[in-house]
Amino acid sequence: MREAAASAIRREDYAAPAFWIRTVELTFDLDPAKTIVASKLAIERNPQAAPGQALVLHGEDLTLLRCLADGESVSFRHEEGLLVIDHPPEKDAFTLEIRNTCAPEKNTQLSGLYTSTGGLFTQCEAEGFRRITYFLDRPDVMAVFSVTLRADKAKYPVLLSNGNLVEQGSLDNGRHFAKWHDPFPKPSYLFALVAADLVCREQKIVSRSGKEHLLQVYVRRGDLDKTEHAMASLIASVAWDEARFGLPLDLDRFMIVAVSDFNMGAMENKGLNVFNTKYVLASPATATDGDFAGIESVVGHEYFHNWTGNRITCRDWFQLSLKEGLTVYRDQEFSMDMAGSPSARAVKRIDDVRGLRAVQFPEDAGPMAHPVRPDRYQEINNFYTATVYEKGAEVVRMMATLVGREGFRRGMDLYFERHDGQAVTCDDFAQAIADANPGSALAVNLAQFKHWYAQAGTPRLTARGSHDVTTRRFTLTLTQSALPSPGQPDKQPCVMPVVMGLISTDGRALPLRLAGEEAAHGTERTLVLTQPEESFVFEDIDDAPVPSLLRGFSAPVVLDSGLYDGALITLLRHDHDAFNRWEAGQRLALNRLLAALPGTGELPALDDAYIDAMRAVLRDPALDPAFKELVLTPPGEGYVAEQCAEVDPQRIHRLREEMRQQLAARLHADWLWAWEAHQVREGYRPDAVQSGKRALANLALTMLVLDAVAKGDPVWPGRAYQRVKDAGQMTDRHAALKALIDGHSPLAQGALAHFHGVAAGDDLVLDKWFAAQAQAAEPLDGGGVVLGRVKALLKHPDFSMKNPNRLRSLVGSFCRENPAAFHRADAAGYVFWADRVLELDAINPQIAARIARAMDRWRVLAEPYRSAAREALARVAGSAKLSDDVREIVSKALE
Ligand code: ARG
Ligand code: ZN
Repeated sequence: MREAAASAIRREDYAAPAFWIRTVELTFDLDPAKTIVASKLAIERNPQAAPGQALVLHGEDLTLLRCLADGESVSFRHEEGLLVIDHPPEKDAFTLEIRNTCAPEKNTQLSGLYTSTGGLFTQCEAEGFRRITYFLDRPDVMAVFSVTLRADKAKYPVLLSNGNLVEQGSLDNGRHFAKWHDPFPKPSYLFALVAADLVCREQKIVSRSGKEHLLQVYVRRGDLDKTEHAMASLIASVAWDEARFGLPLDLDRFMIVAVSDFNMGAMENKGLNVFNTKYVLASPATATDGDFAGIESVVGHEYFHNWTGNRITCRDWFQLSLKEGLTVYRDQEFSMDMAGSPSARAVKRIDDVRGLRAVQFPEDAGPMAHPVRPDRYQEINNFYTATVYEKGAEVVRMMATLVGREGFRRGMDLYFERHDGQAVTCDDFAQAIADANPGSALAVNLAQFKHWYAQAGTPRLTARGSHDVTTRRFTLTLTQSALPSPGQPDKQPCVMPVVMGLISTDGRALPLRLAGEEAAHGTERTLVLTQPEESFVFEDIDDAPVPSLLRGFSAPVVLDSGLYDGALITLLRHDHDAFNRWEAGQRLALNRLLAALPGTGELPALDDAYIDAMRAVLRDPALDPAFKELVLTPPGEGYVAEQCAEVDPQRIHRLREEMRQQLAARLHADWLWAWEAHQVREGYRPDAVQSGKRALANLALTMLVLDAVAKGDPVWPGRAYQRVKDAGQMTDRHAALKALIDGHSPLAQGALAHFHGVAAGDDLVLDKWFAAQAQAAEPLDGGGVVLGRVKALLKHPDFSMKNPNRLRSLVGSFCRENPAAFHRADAAGYVFWADRVLELDAINPQIAARIARAMDRWRVLAEPYRSAAREALARVAGSAKLSDDVREIVSKALE
């Protein structure tokens, strides 16, 4: 931890390294208190770099024992986080031998080599390798690694590293060793080792080319029965990448290891993915449908990194989206293909867009706003963001839309043909996709398209239509604009693919003939907006149509369609695009909430037109239950807040709760029907069909409980309580628990106690128990109870500040996912936030910085929240000892 204010690292300062490292031989004498690392590096001068430069290695929290160049001692000096060898041998190539120690058991940051439940694990992305040994810890330095691990055999029976196992055997004193060799040159951030007492599920597979591979999933003893889904997801991932992108598994052996203390979701180390247990372990009794889906997508994500990230990696960390945006796009497509039906694909797309809007849009409007390819950072770990990941995926998706599915595949092929084995930039990727598709809208507008990489902020797209009965023309005028963001006062117009159609008021998809065209080209097309304003004229349109724009959310923008209720209801009923049907329903709800927000009274009674439209969706036999659940769920409080110039979290919560209450009461008979009609009677499968039915039935239960509690009727709360007790699987048990808590039923306490009992110490189930309480809906009368509960839970024997999952489930959920409980007039939520951030910063700065971001949007808060939030931020910023991680977040917030 550095105490001085960190200065920014800038993209424009990139320079190739003065030296390359071609091979690395690492020997570890593993011990939790003191691990000895011997490293032998084959170093070559970079002939392109200026001569006479010092060899500057990164190193953090290490003790150096020895440093030899070509077998001779060499003089060195330490600088902040660096080992400087001013006069390395004056040769083109030489060997550097280093011996150092590190202390895994003191490593509470969980970056580098650390201990977790008796085992030793590593996390090296982004800059953790320098916490293991001295190295050129930057992604453009790629080396072939040979690794020898030595450790106590009884405590660490399993010794793993990247690549192939070359040799293993016994040593004296109850120790043993294993030697691994990874034939693929890789940057240090992809290094991994594991030494632990683990068991594994394994499976041999034969790839399309006839090659055999061994797949393994390593977990703690007792968890083997929860690895079936992860293994199935891995097998599916291997098959999918071969089928869809022609990318085979390039290793004989591919391993996944689950660890319970992990800062992020998972890590794509070459051949040895290390995962948060949350994204590996699942059984119907312990995991929800959402958890099963999360495992499938993260297993896919890390596996797909093997090509997009590992075979082709990033030149520098500013290019992080090169691998993350692309790999998120790939995992989203994988999950859609796995979901199957067009409607299940749409449900996945809606989920992804909901996530983007809930997290990335606020990020892009706040103090941490940054381009998909950032220009500067203080702490790279703060840039593993929704912008780099999810907006980055949208940028890739737009490219795919602009060049078409086959065109995108051609582009990917060219990308690998050109860059396999290299460390490259986002420009290289975009260039490959464009070059493979000459004449495409992407290729023609490439320079302009790349504004998506360079500009922060969410563009706004405004659409207005006008119909002329006499000329039978419909003119659609699209306007784009973007607000300034930090360091970017003026924005250039973007290239926006707008997938669209026109619907007649009676629901027909109209043939689309643009002015100047001979004939109509189908009923859906992609308009490519490149100017600040453009008009598109459609011919042969008899009556004013309803435009359905931005289908499938074809660009990551805020759309102002200017449509009124009647048109929105037409879209909700008839649009051919499921995404836009959902969007129309959300807009109807949003408009009602926004209209009531400025006042102080209750939400006015919802109009019949809206209620009837909701009922029609709920009862429509042609629609999927999963889709209905999405339509019937009003927009989240965070999303509503983003629509306001000044945010009153309490008011938003009240109105949204009243909306749910009205939907519960007015659709009572329909919820009864929905509950009855969507019970799953066959054995549990986490697939799209079953999980959709459960989602809708559980929404119905939530509404029935909500309505019953309001009316003092004990029947539905009683049923929900019974479900918590008897449910055969976690999805239903968890949903029933949440229904009782968020419905403020007196039975919630008993249900929680029961839930804690059946958790029987299972960490992931306990995380849900904590999270359900931290996310509990604040009661409208009086309120303020959730924080008291959360504070009490900090002292619960099952709570620990040191385990990131547990911390996220209690502190993270409260500060970041429960606005009405967090933003209190008495500022107690902010005091709690500041205390936790400071406390945590001394343990794990990465996680502290994530929690710190709960205050990102403080400037748009109404008083008294805004002043109180500023005060809390200033208190944290004024702390003498702050990590670079937290300092960057709070200082940007206060800028
Ligand atoms: N590359 C990993 C993934 O997206 C994330 C690792 C990030 N780790 C970190 N400490 N910032 O799959
Ligand atoms: Zn990733």
